[in-house]
Amino acid sequence: MSNDQNDAIKSILEENRVFNPPREAAERLGGAWIDSMESYQEMWRRSVDEPERFWETEAKEHLHWFKPFEQVLSWNPPDARWFEGGLTNACHTCVDRQVEEGHGDEVAIIWEGEPVSDGAPEIRRLTYADLQRETARVANALESLGVGRGDIVTIYMGMVPEVAIAMLACARIGAAHSVIFGGFSASAIVDRVRDADSRVILTCDGSWRRGSIVPLKASVDEACQELPGVTSVVTLRRCLNDIEMVDGRDHDWHELVSRQSDDRPCEPMDSEALLFLLYTSGSTGKPKGIVHTTAGYCLHASVTARNTFNLRPDRGQVYWCTADVGWITGHSYIVYGVLPNRVPTVMYEGAPNFPAEDRFWSMVERHRVTQFYTAPTAIRAFMKWGDEHPAGHDLSSLMVLGTVGEPINPEAWMWYHRVIGGERCPIVDTWWQTETGGHMITPQPCATPTVPGSCTLPTLGIDAAVVDDDGNELPHGTGGLLVIRKPWPSMLRGIHGDRDRFIETYWSRIPGMYTAGDAASRDDRGYFWILGRIDDVINVSGHRLGTAEVESALVSHVHVVEAAVVGFPHDIKGTGIAAFVTLGPRAEASDGLKKTLHTHVGKEIGAIAKPDMIRFTHALPKTRSGKIMRRLLRDIAAGRESTQDTTTLEDLTVLAKLREEDE
Ligand code: WTA
Repeated sequence: MSNDQNDAIKSILEENRVFNPPREAAERLGGAWIDSMESYQEMWRRSVDEPERFWETEAKEHLHWFKPFEQVLSWNPPDARWFEGGLTNACHTCVDRQVEEGHGDEVAIIWEGEPVSDGAPEIRRLTYADLQRETARVANALESLGVGRGDIVTIYMGMVPEVAIAMLACARIGAAHSVIFGGFSASAIVDRVRDADSRVILTCDGSWRRGSIVPLKASVDEACQELPGVTSVVTLRRCLNDIEMVDGRDHDWHELVSRQSDDRPCEPMDSEALLFLLYTSGSTGKPKGIVHTTAGYCLHASVTARNTFNLRPDRGQVYWCTADVGWITGHSYIVYGVLPNRVPTVMYEGAPNFPAEDRFWSMVERHRVTQFYTAPTAIRAFMKWGDEHPAGHDLSSLMVLGTVGEPINPEAWMWYHRVIGGERCPIVDTWWQTETGGHMITPQPCATPTVPGSCTLPTLGIDAAVVDDDGNELPHGTGGLLVIRKPWPSMLRGIHGDRDRFIETYWSRIPGMYTAGDAASRDDRGYFWILGRIDDVINVSGHRLGTAEVESALVSHVHVVEAAVVGFPHDIKGTGIAAFVTLGPRAEASDGLKKTLHTHVGKEIGAIAKPDMIRFTHALPKTRSGKIMRRLLRDIAAGRESTQDTTTLEDLTVLAKLREEDE
């Protein structure tokens, strides 16, 4: 454990504010799925004592099966196969089943565009019947372009209903998708499209963000110059900005899709058929394509969405997750987990402060949102913008508040509880990862007493623990590795095309257990507290980034010889990005060059990766074996005295110089 983490554990153990689930919460929610701590504990115990029986019952109840499965689990660590022999389809579970059961006219998606004219934004409401028709048309369109079972379609779109339709249309025909966050740059697209070997890209002309147009199609065009394998690009017109169309390759979404038949049944798919790849950051410069398969992923996403937010149809609930679908949160908790629960899911296109800082609260009021799910970094920004913004709106519809993406500091938790939740909404602080597919540790809203800053206890069927390097469970109050000891249905099945990295990253540290890459500790109640990553991954504004990715972006600039990137505490972002850079002989350290490097990183990865602080240095502190001493740099970036042992530092003058440059 680092000193930081030990300090964190001390303050955790001193946190003694406990908030019992408000008594009226269950009533307002129309009944609780899990209504007391005793029933949670009893259900959880049974679920991990007899996991196969538990998951079998869940799978039969929550998924639609064209053909029932024969075996619940086959487990050859690290390879799990769930619900083998069964045939199902993710799009059917989300959409067609609702129509077949007589709910075709109910609203599935409520979408709001960013621009506001005459005080009113554009709003679209799509029913399950609309989704069935549109996913069938897009499915037929994809097939007309030669997409078939198992092909991977890249989706690089803004937050419009068609992005969800595109994902579900792939699932409909048994193709897989790889959604790339619209904030990533052309060169990030190149890496991901190449790795997935996608031939078809679905995109938009642009996307609205804080009143400007993000030119998505232009980035795809730029990327395609290096991607000869891409045969078709389909562009949805959203912003009507100027775009170029390449003959023979490019199609207009509307033209292509509107001429398709709206009849295309869902393809019965093996439980273990690839549903999607989602690229995420790790400790090397190359993002990894996390593999998720059909039945297990859909099951855990929909059961956790139901329990964690207490989703119930026919009770007037409206659920809103503010994430972008380009991240796992959007996949699981805007689309795949929510639609099966038959509660409308809100999608918002743009920024939280456009046209003003009260945009989210005006939306909560307008749509009578009952469950609201966002990131701590957003909550910290709202705090800074001032209480008057939420105070100007009627937030009385809210019933459950959620957070995800990074640890939430107790001040932000308390503000969320008081100002947004009116002290009557349970807060669910959900710990999970791209790799886990769905929630792993979170309060149950009507059962679990909450403590600001703790994600509390595992979800049903999840055997989470804090262990030492040998896999032994540690006593409460001690920091260690967060692991999951039993397989679960939505666990990643691999890293696309990189078996070694899959084993090395998650399964080699403690054989037979999934190592999450986070450090954690438990308190006297047994509640989990996340202490942060143990690898070189940082959570910047809730977005996961590898420091190595930013380093390779920096060294790809002609003037940069070497770069070391570390995280440092940042008021709003949670973690900021600090870059220490050594320059080549012909370069001159200047503010101009800092700006250039800043822009360069934005171009190489995307705006989210731009360093908050760049410092030029004549050398980086290294051990005698040549390893960069990152902990030292972290101390310097945080502006604190280092307690690091520097005896292995190769050249002590480097350290002195770095500190001087600090002044
Ligand atoms: C962090 C996002 C503390 C953690 C769903 C994890 C959290 C990484 C929480 C995964 C939370 C996520 N409390 N830390 N509630 N939720 N994290 O893959 O470090 O983008 O390993 O998935 O975010 O980020 P990812």
